Amino acid sequence: MKKICLFDSKPYDKIYFEKYKDEYGFEFEYFETKLRPQTAVLARGFDAAVAFVNDEVGRDTINRLFENNIRILAMRCAGYNNVDVAAAKDKIRLVRVPNYSPYAVAEHTMAILLTLVRKTNKAYIRTREYNFSLNGLMGFVLHGKTVGVVGTGKIGSVFLDICKGFGMEVCAYDMYPSRKDVEYLSFEELCRRSDIISLHCPLTSETKHMINNKTIDLMKDGVYILNTSRGALIDSEDLVEAIKSEKIGGAALDVYEEESEFFYEDKSATIIQDDTLARLITMPNVLVTSHQAFLTREALREIAHTTCENLKEFFEGRELKNEIAASKS
Ligand code: NAI
Repeated sequence: MKKICLFDSKPYDKIYFEKYKDEYGFEFEYFETKLRPQTAVLARGFDAAVAFVNDEVGRDTINRLFENNIRILAMRCAGYNNVDVAAAKDKIRLVRVPNYSPYAVAEHTMAILLTLVRKTNKAYIRTREYNFSLNGLMGFVLHGKTVGVVGTGKIGSVFLDICKGFGMEVCAYDMYPSRKDVEYLSFEELCRRSDIISLHCPLTSETKHMINNKTIDLMKDGVYILNTSRGALIDSEDLVEAIKSEKIGGAALDVYEEESEFFYEDKSATIIQDDTLARLITMPNVLVTSHQAFLTREALREIAHTTCENLKEFFEGRELKNEIAASKS
């Protein structure tokens, strides 16, 4: 029986990991705390550790895990910008779940776009209070609008097809264009041409703050920004300024660059110290969800299953199909 500990785990993770424990012969321990240098010692005595998007998997954490005899760390997510891959080399093998449900994330992206443009979040609150007035609820039609998709990998590609289904014009930017049926532009040209810009590329040193006051200047007045990828793709302070000046017409954000302190936690009784996040949340044309785009039955099942499969490969000394290698970081 292999003993595995999960960091930053929630009740919904437990439901799906427990389904696989007998099949794989694993015993799971669920830690609510995030993985960081101070908590890595909790992994002592376990055969593997499992971490998530907002865990701090930097050099110190890797070294602490290594000192505590952890030789495999399974990320139960696709993105791994929070992992110091080079620091893990020759110490800890790293695996991830590269493809658990592009549909979950792409559909959430369309959900928050529709909420934003048709104001269904406000309508819901009004009618619950028997306020049936329509004043202030005017939206616009997506059909015929141009959406610029940044990153046409698994998620961006599904989102692009959803947009085509809505009768939208589609253009894209990707370092490695893969779709024959889509017009690829430079990022600058995509900024100029799009009514709505949706981010689906990974966070890297090149993509960090790709939405900033210079690129925002290129955009159409009233442009909408969607981000279900990683928060730091956007310079949040520049975003706030552009919304205040009405250059940006609306933003739907499932991720935020400083989200790790807040997202997945109930902070409703706390004074939020992050003024940028607090300001964004007060804006009537901004919708923030708490990194929930993945949160579907299908994705959670696939995350648990692939993580178990990744760990089984390691324990059996087989090739790791989903290894995060230093060269790919
Ligand atoms: P993917 O690897 O299939 O696609 C990423 C695409 O971005 C590729 O086509 C790649 O060529 C392109 N790309 C890489 N560097 C680029 C650059 N510098 N400029 C432009 N394009 C670039 O990844 P997938 O599965 O589509 O995921 C996309 C992102 O979505 C992930 O990196 C992750 O951060 C985020 N994500 C968010 C979730 C959520 O719950 N909000 C859940 C899962 C993923």
